[in-house]
Amino acid sequence: AARHLCLFQGFWCPSAFFQGVINFQKHFQAKGSDVIVATVPKSGTTWLKALTFAIINRQRFSSSHNHPLLTSNSHELVPFLEFVFHVDNIQDKLSHLSNMTEPRVFGTHVPFPSLPKSIKESNCKIVYICRNPFDTFVSHWIFANKINPHSMHELTIEETLEKYCKGILGFGPTWEHMLGYWKESIANPNRVLFLKYEELKEDVNFYVKRVAEFLDCPFTEEEESNGVIENIINLCSFEKMKNLEVNKSGTFDRNFEKKHLFRKGKVGDWVNYFSPAMIEKLSKTMEEKLGGSGLSFKTSS
Ligand code: A3P
Repeated sequence: AARHLCLFQGFWCPSAFFQGVINFQKHFQAKGSDVIVATVPKSGTTWLKALTFAIINRQRFSSSHNHPLLTSNSHELVPFLEFVFHVDNIQDKLSHLSNMTEPRVFGTHVPFPSLPKSIKESNCKIVYICRNPFDTFVSHWIFANKINPHSMHELTIEETLEKYCKGILGFGPTWEHMLGYWKESIANPNRVLFLKYEELKEDVNFYVKRVAEFLDCPFTEEEESNGVIENIINLCSFEKMKNLEVNKSGTFDRNFEKKHLFRKGKVGDWVNYFSPAMIEKLSKTMEEKLGGSGLSFKTSS
């Protein structure tokens, strides 16, 4: 609900993250080897974190039976920096962070213009993912109702779409979020790799290689012929992750049940939720906000 959001530097920051965002901006010290997974909420964050972690650490965890992704949720392995910095004892946090094994991998939902200077001024790489707004909206709507069943009675799906179009949701406006990283990926293709959920679904093999190249750790021919890429894809697949004991039970940061992170994992499920009026509303908004940017999406598989 809007009362839990505050407009900060042009984006709607969930109040639960506010202190964390401020500390992150103020105190985070990026290293040139850092990898940042930046995303619009509900656009494939859990998946891209898993893939990035598996790609980067493939030599450390080469036998798949003891892989950390089998026993930890990808949000635990690739923590959100706005969460990490949601603490009072910043100095302890900073020394812990500076001692982490490199390359360090972090996640964030913070829009590009509000990332800490230290990230923008370092050579660290940013992998970004977004998703067609129709599916992102439905994923968000259902997730929000699952983690807060009371909210279902507060707003209808039509009213929630109105707010989504206006940009009033966590880390919104979605439009500015996507455009900020989109523009940066064009201006600076070695810094920001811009991915779309639909494209990843269509050809995950291609994009796993693309991410590895972008992160300066391309797969060797030997790795390719030994099935290393296929192993990563399987380890991070929707079915595999959804059915892991670690993802079926337990809560994430005492906030919500991890199982809610895995719903359908499909492109085009929005057709089951959108009325013709809703389709018109969102299509018009997308034309208004994204028209002329060169950014477009597939909405069916
Ligand atoms: P649906 O609600 O459409 O099923 P995020 O991780 O950013 O919160 O995004 C959640 C969406 O990604 C959900 O979409 C979820 O089912 C889907 N998802 C989670 N893990 C996935 C995976 N390993 N592969 C593909 N999609 C996944």
